[in-house]
Amino acid sequence: MKKKLIGFMVAAALCLGGAAHAEEGGKLAHQYWPERGVFGKYDMASVQRGFQVYREVCSNCHSLKLMSYRDLKGLGYTDAQVKAVASAYTVQDGPNDEGEMFDRPARPSDRFHSPFANDKAARAANGGALPPDMSLLANARPGGPDYIYGILTGYGTAPADVKMTPGLYWNDTFPGHQIAMPQPLSDGQVTYSNGDAASTQQAARDVAQFLDWASNPHMEARKAMGIKVILFMLFFVGIMRAAKRKVWADVH
Ligand code: HEC
Repeated sequence: MKKKLIGFMVAAALCLGGAAHAEEGGKLAHQYWPERGVFGKYDMASVQRGFQVYREVCSNCHSLKLMSYRDLKGLGYTDAQVKAVASAYTVQDGPNDEGEMFDRPARPSDRFHSPFANDKAARAANGGALPPDMSLLANARPGGPDYIYGILTGYGTAPADVKMTPGLYWNDTFPGHQIAMPQPLSDGQVTYSNGDAASTQQAARDVAQFLDWASNPHMEARKAMGIKVILFMLFFVGIMRAAKRKVWADVH
């Protein structure tokens, strides 16, 4: 009886898991991401290339509202480089002494420039669909960088028996498989600073790592602190054991 019950529970769990997966969209191919895992570290060269992909392509539609230009220092950029990146954008400031708003070049302390004034403008420009803010996207979607990579490389032709909604594109990874984002990356679209034209896969991998970093910019510091805490705890347990032995040494 008990065995049957356990069997039933396992089967139910498998079915539920399967159903949940089907709803989530296509199966994700799992890749190795150097930043994931207990001792993981970012591949900073890849994260920097990914920032270039974000800046040249994704930032036309997706905002990164929680990021300031000075956060790029965590990516290895110098103060001068951060200033140069920021000053390419214009922000509205004010009011000035005459009570008027005015435009000025962005400073390192400003938040990243958003492509649209508000969500309604973003929807109007994208056939009614909202390009989500990317500040926490890698954390918010199951699979994180695998999901982002899967979306970017998952475009294709719809199976013959599927009726596509006009204005949507077939995507293997996106839940429901019909996405409003036109394929954003293609081979050779982004040329990296070393002169290499990036393949779709390369650019997708780099931007997925950049977005993982953008969602967790302090991850390395946090992990380093965690390791220190664990070492201290081990040391402390040793001391407490020695103290206990000393205190109880004469009690027989
Ligand atoms: C032309 C505008 C446009 C560009 C450029 C663009 N996107 Fe999108 N993106 C959208 C829209 C619109 C959606 C919402 C799609 C939907 O809901 O069907 C979207 C959705 C997504 C999603 C799925 C989000 C979710 O909710 O699960 C990901 C991931 C994504 N974009 C990544 C990127 C990346 C990375 C780039 C740059 C390489 C990029 N996009 C460039 C418009 C754009």
